Amino acid sequence: MKARPVKRRPAPIRAAITGVHGHLPQYVLTNHELAKMVDTTDAWIIERTGIRERRILKGEGLGTSHMAAEAVRGLLEKTHTAAGDVDLLICATTTPDFVFPSTANLVCDMVGIRNVGSFDVQAACSGFVYAVTIASQFIETGKYEKVVVVGADKMSSIIDYTDRATCVLFGDAAGAVLIEPSRNRRGIIDTLISSDGAGMQFLHQKAGGSRMPPTVETVARRLHYVHQEGAQVYKFAVARMAEVASQLLERNQLRGRDIDWLVPHQANKRIIEATANRMSLPMDHVMVTIQKFGNTTAATIPLCLWDYESRLELGDKLVLAAFGGGFTWAGAYLTWAYDGAKAAAGGRAAPAE
Ligand SMILES: CC(C)(COP(=O)(O)OP(=O)(O)OC[C@H]1O[C@@H](n2cnc3c(N)ncnc32)[C@H](O)[C@@H]1OP(=O)(O)O)[C@@H](O)C(=O)NCCC(=O)NCCS
Repeated sequence: MKARPVKRRPAPIRAAITGVHGHLPQYVLTNHELAKMVDTTDAWIIERTGIRERRILKGEGLGTSHMAAEAVRGLLEKTHTAAGDVDLLICATTTPDFVFPSTANLVCDMVGIRNVGSFDVQAACSGFVYAVTIASQFIETGKYEKVVVVGADKMSSIIDYTDRATCVLFGDAAGAVLIEPSRNRRGIIDTLISSDGAGMQFLHQKAGGSRMPPTVETVARRLHYVHQEGAQVYKFAVARMAEVASQLLERNQLRGRDIDWLVPHQANKRIIEATANRMSLPMDHVMVTIQKFGNTTAATIPLCLWDYESRLELGDKLVLAAFGGGFTWAGAYLTWAYDGAKAAAGGRAAPAE
């Protein structure tokens, strides 16, 4: 009897990051300058957070969309992608230009992406990983071919520069990635998103939303700024960042030493070190940018990828891990899909066939 031909199921489409770009505002706010504004010192900030300086967006009328658009413009240029070829743009941000329309809508208009879906994702510091998770679904189902995810935050617009416990931590920036179907089986293998709204009390902005709309009184009481109970947030951040990383390792039968790069949210150097430690991962396998940029909320993880792009090799195993207000936490396990050194040097390193 003639053997029946084996029917091979087509391999599922995998979504891959195929380009990354960032934008940093020019103004550098150093610890020394902060020490002239509030009762703090360069030594305290470095020792307790690892931060030396952060960027601040100055300029009349410039909001989060300005930085996001700069990052997306650079990304399209670098990846030789025409604005007209983008199928969807998602912007992760906690500091949108307006309550509405979405910052994603504004960014599309600014960079010439027209007549496609665009929306914001609000998951605080986990927003970028949430948005990548959403984007990858559109690629994996075969619906879209090119999705731009940009994480951007102008944290300086909601920081109280008289509160030493929060003003030293945050900076402004944007980072964008292009997500396409992988042509080499490399890309996003697993994602994990989670939240616990009971954490709201420890990290939130009290006024400005529908529960407490802005009034003269809310402004006078300084309620439009980040309210944070640092020690509580620290405790949850350490636990959840480590948990998300270890869940991803376990689900994918990996050990810490199998990972080439941990890409952790950058809120505090001590949280990053604790996460790496719990994964038994040496620090030379951990992306760290906090000393230069501080916590840039949704921009943090793409900014790390951009900063380390030249060191990323085809097939490198990456774990992204984020934690933020909400509380929210999220992670992704992926293999790097292109030659980072080539892309960083200017030539687009197309994913190898
Ligand atoms: C905010 C954070 C750096 C504070 O560090 P800490 O070592 O926990 O400090 P504590 O909050 O326990 O405060 C210790 C003391 O330092 C003081 N302090 C806080 N900020 C200070 C500063 N910039 N300079 C000097 N002293 C400061 C506090 O007032 C407190 O003084 P007190 O003991 O007299 O009351 C730390 O809690 C943290 O990183 N939390 C998590 C933040 C985070 O992850 N946020 C974003 C989530 S995405």
